Amino acid sequence: MSNAPAEEIPAEEIDLAEANHIIDKYLTLPGNLMPVLQGIQDSYGYIPRPTIDLVAERLNVYPSQIYGVLTFYAQFHLKPRGRYIIRVCVGTACHVQGAERITETFFGRLGIGHAETSADLRYTFEKVACLGACGMAPLAMVNDDTYGKMTVQKVDEIIETYNQRPMTK
Ligand code: FES
Repeated sequence: MSNAPAEEIPAEEIDLAEANHIIDKYLTLPGNLMPVLQGIQDSYGYIPRPTIDLVAERLNVYPSQIYGVLTFYAQFHLKPRGRYIIRVCVGTACHVQGAERITETFFGRLGIGHAETSADLRYTFEKVACLGACGMAPLAMVNDDTYGKMTVQKVDEIIETYNQRPMTK
């Protein structure tokens, strides 16, 4: 399967109704910025840029403050993310055991590179530092599932498996 990377959704196509609903829910509560941002992330799967202006206006905070929070906490994402997050470890033990080949195979099969998301929003691919299971190198993860002793054949099996999985949670 091959996919071009996903483009960012144009601002005018973002429906702000859900973001307004989330803001309404927390509007009068103290310390509401984090739960509002978390709610938006859960609902949209990421933080669309137009929602940042909306939150700034309605919570009376500067957009720069919001960007500060979004860039500090790794759980927030400013671009759409795939339903399945593929992570390949490129730490030392995995590198020595051929992580580069695994990474390149995923790139070739999915048509996306590091930190990119497929156009159908099924996959996001990320190269990551040591995942703490060096004995299973080279290591890959798909969401919370771990795959050790990775081979090119296992890459194909993983993609085949997750291509069959539903897009809903
Ligand atoms: S280097 Fe890959 S799991 Fe530690």
